[in-house]
This record gives sequence, structure tokens and C-alpha cells, in this order.
Amino acid sequence: MIIDDNNNKNTKIAASKSKDLEAGEIEYDRNYDLNIRPKTFKDYIGQETIKNTLKITIEASKKRNVQLDHILLYGPPGLGKTTLANIIANETGVGIKITSAPALERPRDIIGILMSLKEGEILFIDEIHRLNKIAEEILYPAMEDFFIDLTTGKSQTVKTMRVPVKKFTLIGATTKAGALSGPLRDRFGVIHRLEFYTPSELSSVIKRSAKILNIEIDNEGAMEIAKRSRSTPRIANRLIKRASDWALVKGDGVINLNIAKEALNSLNIDEFGLDYTDRELLKMIITNYNGGPVGVETLGVALGEDIRTIEDVIEPYLLQSGFIQRTQRGRMATPLAYNHLGIKNGNPNQLELF
Ligand code: ADE
Repeated sequence: MIIDDNNNKNTKIAASKSKDLEAGEIEYDRNYDLNIRPKTFKDYIGQETIKNTLKITIEASKKRNVQLDHILLYGPPGLGKTTLANIIANETGVGIKITSAPALERPRDIIGILMSLKEGEILFIDEIHRLNKIAEEILYPAMEDFFIDLTTGKSQTVKTMRVPVKKFTLIGATTKAGALSGPLRDRFGVIHRLEFYTPSELSSVIKRSAKILNIEIDNEGAMEIAKRSRSTPRIANRLIKRASDWALVKGDGVINLNIAKEALNSLNIDEFGLDYTDRELLKMIITNYNGGPVGVETLGVALGEDIRTIEDVIEPYLLQSGFIQRTQRGRMATPLAYNHLGIKNGNPNQLELF
């Protein structure tokens, strides 16, 4: 299904059936996100190196009058891969069609979307590491030489037809660059890893969003939310909403340090930005597995949590902020994790970490 994006007339979303809107809340969240999402590099805070190199890449392709190279964006969820893809389309002055790999289940899904592209357009495929082999193979000649091989007929009468597609740029996004097949990865001319945001960058994101949403927030309130947002703008933007509710009901409408603290404490988000699930995971490693090492599959079963969620959503921040380490034998809690949870460090394996 292709949905017109009411925020950007250049944007079309090819949504998977499972992602169809089911509740008013989701519709509200989607519009909320679209309103505060930056549309230009100028408005996009952070990821300075990526922004600067992308600007040069776009400028050079314009000067050479050639199609922009295919771009792979990877990194943890919520750091702005989709936002960047929309900005690239906007700054290049072309349309963008947005889909995700799980929505491209049958050959005709990827063929249909490739054939629907207009000259120069961008095709954004989210979660591209989940593309199936057949879809990948259809994509290869399209990416390299802008044609696809269509087969007609059955067994002995099978015929292959070479059909041109319009020149396009593929932007792939993934949380797991390592899970991409080598041949697919090699076909991207530009590869960028998105970094976690610093508290100061996040504080700027929060103040910008608050301004757009007419939410009053002071510097200390913004910094407090920033520090507790797991270095991730998507989370920061969600927490502003919650803090703004709190300010309205419990305060005078302004998000200051106290309101931010109270609101986030009430959500069980601690001063490092860890939530209940993060702390449960750390506690599990420490108390049930003597601090580790423990495999992610075991943790998944013990916590009743999907392994992919642990690997893609929960772990990246715990790793980067130094609460866990990944060793060949599994995950280990670090001294910081013991300290944070107020548990005495008695793990003999901990010596491995120093
Ligand atoms: N909202 C979400 N991500 C953002 C970013 N990087 N800059 C500005 N606003 C944002």
C-alpha cells in the first residue's frame, strides 16, 4: 500500500500490512513526529561529519549531473536514519518512496516499487538487512545498471526480459550493517554510521522540538531530559511530551529541572536514562549469572524478551555507556553496572575486563 505523506508532498510511504495504523494514538504520534522532524541539513542537529560529507556528495552529483550514489545508513534505532533520508531527498530536490524490507516479501513487491520510481527519485528501504535473497538479486542489476530481469512462462518455456528502470538512488537503513550480505553492502557507494548524540546536542534537539510544539522549557529542564534520553533524539522527543503533561498537571506548564526530574522518575527512567527493562537485564546478568559472561539467547529466555530487541534496541546504549561488555563468551556486567545498581562486585570473571 502506498500512503501519501501529508507532511511532504515528495514523500510516499509504502507500508507493510502489519504497519497499517490501528489506533488514533499511533496516528497522533506519527503526525507529532512528522511536525518536529527537521527537513533540511540546517535544521538537523548533530551527526556533523555525516552531514558535511553528505552535503559534498550531493553537491558533487549535482555539479557532475549524475545520479547520487546509493547510500547505506546504519546505527541504533532512533538516531535519525529516516529523517536523514528525507533531508537528502529534500536537499537534492527529488521525491522519495519509503518502504521497509519486511514489506518486500514477494518478488512483485520490489519489482513494483522499482518500476514505479520516477527519474532521479530516492528509494528508502528500512531494515534492509532483512531483505530476502530473491529481492536482493532483483535489486543488484537495478542498483548497478538500472534494469531488472523479469521472467515469464514456466519451466521449459521460461523467458527472461531485461526491463529498464528509471535512474534512482537507494538509501538503505539498518541497525545491523554486519547482517547485510557482502554483495549488497558492496553496491553502496556511500556508507555512514550514525553516532549516539551528546547531551548538549540532545538538549538542542529538545529545545527545537519544544519551540515547534509550543512547549515551554528552560535550559536545565532540557538538559535533564537530554541526559536521560539514552543519547537518542526519538526518545528525547517522546520524553518532552511526557514532561509537558507533567508540567501542565503538576506545575505551571513550564518544564524546569524539578518537573523534568519528577516526570522522568515517575516513568522509572533513572539519571542515566536506563528504564525498567535495562535494569532488569543488568540485574539478571549480575545476580543470576554471576556478572556474566552469558549468551544473549539465554538472557532472552530468562527475561522473556525477544533476542532481536535485546540486540538492536536494549544493548547498544548499555554497551556504549559502559554498563555491559561483549566478550567472545557472552555479555558481562561492568563495575559501572554493579555500582549503578548498588550491588557489591563479587564476579571473579570481572578481572577479564581490566
Ligand atoms: N528531531 C529528531 N532528530 C533531530 C535532529 N537530529 N535535529 C533536530 N531535530 C530532531
